[in-house]
Amino acid sequence: MSSTAETYKAFYQRSIDQPDAFWAEQAQLIDWHKPFNRVCNYDKPPFVHWYEGGQTNLCHNAVDRHLKDRANQAALIYVSSETGQEKTYTFAELHVEVQRMAASLKALGVQKGDRVLIYMPMIAEAAFAMLACARIGAIHCVVFGGFASGSLASRIDDATPKVIVSADAGSRGGKVVAYKPLLDEAIRLSRHQPESVLLVDRKLAPMALVAGRDQLWGDLRQQHLDAQVPCEWLDSTAISYTIYTSGTTGKPKGVQRDTGGYAVALAASMKHIFDGRAGETYFSTSDIGWVVGHSYIIYGPLIAGMATIMYEGLPTQGMDGHADGAIWWRLVEKYKVTAMFSAPTAVRVLKKQDPALLKKHDLSSLRALFLAGEPLDEPTARWISDGLGVPIIDNYWQTETGWPLLTVANGVERTPSKFGSPGVPMYGYRVKLLHEATGEELTQPNEKGVVVLEGPTPPGFMQTVWQDDARFVNTYWKSVPGKMVYSTFDWGIRDEDGYYFILGRTDDVINVAGHRLGTREIEESISGHPLVAEVAVVGVADALKGQVAMAFAVLKDASLLQDGAATLKLEGEIMKRVDGDLGAVARPARVRFVTALPKTRSGKLLRRAIQAVCEGRDAGDLTTMDDPAALQQIRDRVSAS
Ligand code: PRX
Repeated sequence: MSSTAETYKAFYQRSIDQPDAFWAEQAQLIDWHKPFNRVCNYDKPPFVHWYEGGQTNLCHNAVDRHLKDRANQAALIYVSSETGQEKTYTFAELHVEVQRMAASLKALGVQKGDRVLIYMPMIAEAAFAMLACARIGAIHCVVFGGFASGSLASRIDDATPKVIVSADAGSRGGKVVAYKPLLDEAIRLSRHQPESVLLVDRKLAPMALVAGRDQLWGDLRQQHLDAQVPCEWLDSTAISYTIYTSGTTGKPKGVQRDTGGYAVALAASMKHIFDGRAGETYFSTSDIGWVVGHSYIIYGPLIAGMATIMYEGLPTQGMDGHADGAIWWRLVEKYKVTAMFSAPTAVRVLKKQDPALLKKHDLSSLRALFLAGEPLDEPTARWISDGLGVPIIDNYWQTETGWPLLTVANGVERTPSKFGSPGVPMYGYRVKLLHEATGEELTQPNEKGVVVLEGPTPPGFMQTVWQDDARFVNTYWKSVPGKMVYSTFDWGIRDEDGYYFILGRTDDVINVAGHRLGTREIEESISGHPLVAEVAVVGVADALKGQVAMAFAVLKDASLLQDGAATLKLEGEIMKRVDGDLGAVARPARVRFVTALPKTRSGKLLRRAIQAVCEGRDAGDLTTMDDPAALQQIRDRVSAS
């Protein structure tokens, strides 16, 4: 067992030098129904199988195993400043609700290995649905509620769910967003048809039910009030869920995760990184549609025996519908939150508020604020650090990794953070910086390279791309010439003390308010407009959102460019189209019209050059550019506004 005196350096080194012993020790943090007989199977790189032979269950570890000691302790605290609802479920109550949901899913024919797609707002039933799937061994696939029909349809086709769980509506900033029509349209667009749709009726928006397909959760729950559904014991390597994420192609990737490795990774991270203790309250402001929501709203805190707050609403909205820039701090005080997790964007929103709001509530329970998802700029970090008086812990990771890759592990050893750096490699991760073109390892401090991982990747890391091993290998493990390493597709540097700094993506992924979006998906939506011939979408730095999408479109009929009113109308139409296909999160800030796009002689779009011009930077080496006038046109358009 690790002694408390162990330095982080020694702890990390142990994880790299003796991975089997290290991870066997971490595995003791969860319950196993059947012990594993092999810690790490890395016979077929880059595929890793953790804890082979072992059987466990995520829902058992998150809920059932706590009944003995903390049945009446808060488990799920649901707070909605959109509807004014606030409700606490104890572990015992959560156990009951999850079983009702599990029984309802089973009644709809869901069996072990079947997919259940969850398209829901931040309501307690979404947590019940995720945990119920884990309980019965169904694979959940949560799709962010902010995505629209087109995105949803492509995920339905890829996941081929037997059942979809959804709701009548979500609400944002007091405005009802009807989900059911978006879902119906998505099902109409998809080739795959679910057998049933289970709907939570919040009575926010009218819902037309499709006979024979649509079922109301209220009805099914009523039929299964006393349901007892035991946990299905699953192989450690059984798939727990898939979550879609954006990459360089328009087709989203289903990041697939196992059961045992994920449970161990989360339990270990709750202890070593988040320093979260059973009986305390954890508050992550993310959404269940993102990986942070999976790992640190639902599974991580519950596995650790903590209460978790699920918050629906904006950071600046009070429970009574009026503005309240201190709502989150009110929750910290009320529920004695010890660890909080948010994104830099949210802090930048709060920064616009009166700083006195940070002093309005008793925040003495709070030990740290964790921030992730996008680069944390120094002014934002300093503002919130000064305001809260607790350590601000930046942590860098990805949907693919499932838990932090770079940060500081204060649960192992208190380590100072450096502004601008998420920190050092976490245990189990063999992090390297490689030269982009040659693939050579960069060993000197402050050299810029691509952040990569050498295998075997640690527990909790993605197993593969859902139903596409070739895509997993080719996309992630073959991007560096001559080496099989996992690419994060992020630029980074490491200073002389071993702290990493992340400098943005090497690919066409952009990060808008902490939401990861593929520019290709947005381009595909825009080029579907009948008047658009070609389009380039780039991410441009934005003071509040980190980045925003900017679109440059070439029209089929160039004469339209002369008509200001027509192009303005077209810009509106294109934005509406993106809203309808992908959702408002993906809507470009502006659509600008040009007669040509800058490309290389071989026809490759020069997105980096466009981005540089939009950000007022030097466009770099343009020797391969085919038509310099095209870039000049973009420069003119940008400077004209
Ligand atoms: O570019 C990095 C950025 O977000 C990407 C991963 O996004 P996603 O898959 O949505 O997972 C978010 C999990 C927290 C990364 O490739 N990113 C994430 N965290 C940071 C970050 N960039 C800088 N600093 C961070 N702390």
